[in-house]
Amino acid sequence: MVTSSQQPSPYTPGVIADLAVELPGRAVQLHAIDERLSYVQTFHKLNGRIRVDVGPRGVGKTSLLRAYEQAAQSRGFATVFITAGDRPFLETVSAEFTALGRRWQDSAREQIHAAVKNLSIGIGPVSIKTATDPAATAYRRAAGRELQGLIRAAAEQAQRSDATGLVVLVDEIQSADADGLRALGYAWQNMQADDAALPAALFAAGLSHSQDVITDAVSFAERFQYVHLGNLNDGAAITALTGPAGRRGVTWSPAAAERALGFAQNYPFFVQLIGDETWTAAGFPAAGSVLTIDHVELAAATFTPARAAFFRARWSKATESEMQMLVAMAGLGDTSVRRRDIATALNVRTEAISKPRQSLKDKGLIEDAGYGRLSFTAPGFAAYIRTEILGLDRPEPPAPADTRARISDLLAATQAPSAASPVELPSPAAAPEVYRGPEQPTERGGPER
Ligand SMILES: Nc1ncnc2c1ncn2[C@@H]1O[C@H](COP(=O)(O)OP(=O)(O)O)[C@@H](O)[C@H]1O
Ligand SMILES: [Mg+2]
Repeated sequence: MVTSSQQPSPYTPGVIADLAVELPGRAVQLHAIDERLSYVQTFHKLNGRIRVDVGPRGVGKTSLLRAYEQAAQSRGFATVFITAGDRPFLETVSAEFTALGRRWQDSAREQIHAAVKNLSIGIGPVSIKTATDPAATAYRRAAGRELQGLIRAAAEQAQRSDATGLVVLVDEIQSADADGLRALGYAWQNMQADDAALPAALFAAGLSHSQDVITDAVSFAERFQYVHLGNLNDGAAITALTGPAGRRGVTWSPAAAERALGFAQNYPFFVQLIGDETWTAAGFPAAGSVLTIDHVELAAATFTPARAAFFRARWSKATESEMQMLVAMAGLGDTSVRRRDIATALNVRTEAISKPRQSLKDKGLIEDAGYGRLSFTAPGFAAYIRTEILGLDRPEPPAPADTRARISDLLAATQAPSAASPVELPSPAAAPEVYRGPEQPTERGGPER
């Protein structure tokens, strides 16, 4: 029975963070953005570099980009938020700028409309877009120039409409097509020369391999600056867990908070998930209540399968060679592991793992950890592979001799050339229901795109 003193969950698993309050652990990023905005505003200058916050799924990139948008709006900037994906990038850009223009009065709207039209002409027919002849190059250049024209028109109209200037935000930039990225890089490069006095800035976010995607597509790659976004530090994780409850007059007992954070391991999505499950387990507590370790233990019964489903969905998307690489990594430890050691475990040369390494990075399952090391992007994935996939009894590393033996047996089996009796890596038992996790985040506060 729902009583009037019960309160809905203040946690936000799988949707953007609550931006009505401070975003835990992101003060450094927000400070950097505010400095840039202040510079653009004060000196009426284009922000020449494109900052890209990169990191794995579920770490809080979209939430952060929305917080940048909010910071820009509170300084009076007009904003355009673009989520790359489904459609050709420049088409999405056109649609979002058109939507911006609609907010302004007639003449400004017409200016934007004309610039969008020029851009769609500049994009050219699809058959030419994919060709490699000089005509295609010319068309691409034209797209860059027209995009520059559109951004310029929008920034000018923004000022005319009493805005401070224009801030463009691009989410999921790794999903933008090469032509779109090229046009964007070209446009921003030329604006630096032609429109340096334009109060405009561009911020982006994307998966960890965004840099590879952008560098492949854009010749002015030095325009882009990449900043890695990681899990929360301990203090921020505590704030993220206890803050939302606190604002509802509900406290976490220290033991309960510690246990919950043990589950979440400072990964923002898991902090929200365990917070939400605990809140539910406690029966949507009224102000004055305390969340106890018993509530967390109850919550674990739903959190654990939800987390397993989250990992299972990732595992099932991996190819055979990717699975082998994941197994080898999981056998080596929970934190970053050396590429060389992975290759050794697989009995191949280091170069031989570069393909699955790249594709696993593209899928956001692993990331470079520097110094020739790789790591899983979500905490607990290695333990999941060891227990659920390999059937080992204990989730924790470091891999003792028998673990190594078990893993090499499995790998030997999967690599056996005998096509007659192919041995497959075991797949985890099917779940009754797949928890989608933050894979396709939707927002509570407003539309995602
Ligand atoms: N700074 C933060 N502190 C706590 N939770 C956060 C923070 N940033 C994001 N979250 C939560 O983490 C999850 C993933 O956030 P999202 O912005 O969608 O990440 P990404 O875009 O990197 O996949 C969501 O449940 C969101 O509410
Ligand atoms: Mg996102």
